Amino acid sequence: MMALRMLVVCCSCWLLLTAAEIPNIIYPFTSTCAVEGSTVTLPCSFTPLTSVTEGRKTIYRKIVRVVWCRNHLICHGPTPTVYDSEIQRTSRFQYLGDMETVCTLQIWNIQSYDGGTFRFRMEVNDTVGHFTNRTGVTVKVSDGVQMEISSSGNHSELRKGGAVTLRCSSHCTTHRLEVTWFRDGHALPESGPALQLSPLSAEHSGNYTCRLKAKARTTSQPFSLKVEGLEGANPALIAGVTCGVLLAGVALIVSLVFIRRARAAAAENSRAEEQTQQQDTSREVEDVSYASVHFKQFNQARKAVQDEDAVIYSSVSGRG
Ligand SMILES: *[C@@H]1O[C@H](CO)[C@@H](O)[C@H](O)[C@H]1NC(C)=O
Ligand SMILES: *[C@@H]1O[C@H](CO)[C@@H](O)[C@H](O)[C@H]1NC(C)=O
Repeated sequence: MMALRMLVVCCSCWLLLTAAEIPNIIYPFTSTCAVEGSTVTLPCSFTPLTSVTEGRKTIYRKIVRVVWCRNHLICHGPTPTVYDSEIQRTSRFQYLGDMETVCTLQIWNIQSYDGGTFRFRMEVNDTVGHFTNRTGVTVKVSDGVQMEISSSGNHSELRKGGAVTLRCSSHCTTHRLEVTWFRDGHALPESGPALQLSPLSAEHSGNYTCRLKAKARTTSQPFSLKVEGLEGANPALIAGVTCGVLLAGVALIVSLVFIRRARAAAAENSRAEEQTQQQDTSREVEDVSYASVHFKQFNQARKAVQDEDAVIYSSVSGRG
């Protein structure tokens, strides 16, 4: 009984310990369809087991190898791989990840024999940390699909000066499609799945087709685009607009010159005014001080007279 209880405690301890340390691998989508010849990206992220606690000791683990394999559940040991961090090789399989958290795989120019389920495996410097997520990403490679053109506008008649985006796609979800666009049979320089036309002019009118690069079989049905006003720009209108712009420019320059002159004149006037004002005020100050000087002298004179009166008065009373 005692032994059983201890076993249970130990087990739950171990579970708790490992619960925080479970490595994982996430594939944001687990199936995709790719058109033969296209580039496919399989997003992937992982959390490795970086440390294990044994009693009080923490042992750090390091990722030593990462691999991607096709149609194998755990990709272990000598299983053939499409990517192996230990093997240097040039191939259509490119690892866009690292040894820490990102494990994205990209497949260039995918072929029908590439179809299958791809799985990622990480290996650390301790077998406890080796891990493969068996879910994997299933890739279906579609051959001989016909591309389709769709338009961002809801009708094929468009206004001059407007904008429209044509998209080349197929029922198969694909990533980073490389397509070739044609207008009336002539190849265009753009190679993305979205063709942006703006500002629209008469020369954008025509029958558009698209196909996967170097895959004539995938050529779409033509998409007819018509931009209104095929006769081209009206020369009289252009002349009118040009004249208008020129006139406006001249008017602007003339008014600027006038404003400048007016400002300069105003500045001159106010300077002159200030000067005369200054002269006036100084004259006033002189007048005021002159007056106060006179007033003071007058007061002193009066005081002297009063003193004499007082003396006279006292002498008179002394006699009486
Ligand atoms: C395996 O991958 C699937 C799909 O991304 C994910 O839902 C699951 O949690 C993963 N399992 C582990 C243990 O990482
Ligand atoms: C586009 O194709 C239609 C028939 O599908 C044709 O009548 C039209 O003339 C073509 N336009 C150009 C500019 O080639």
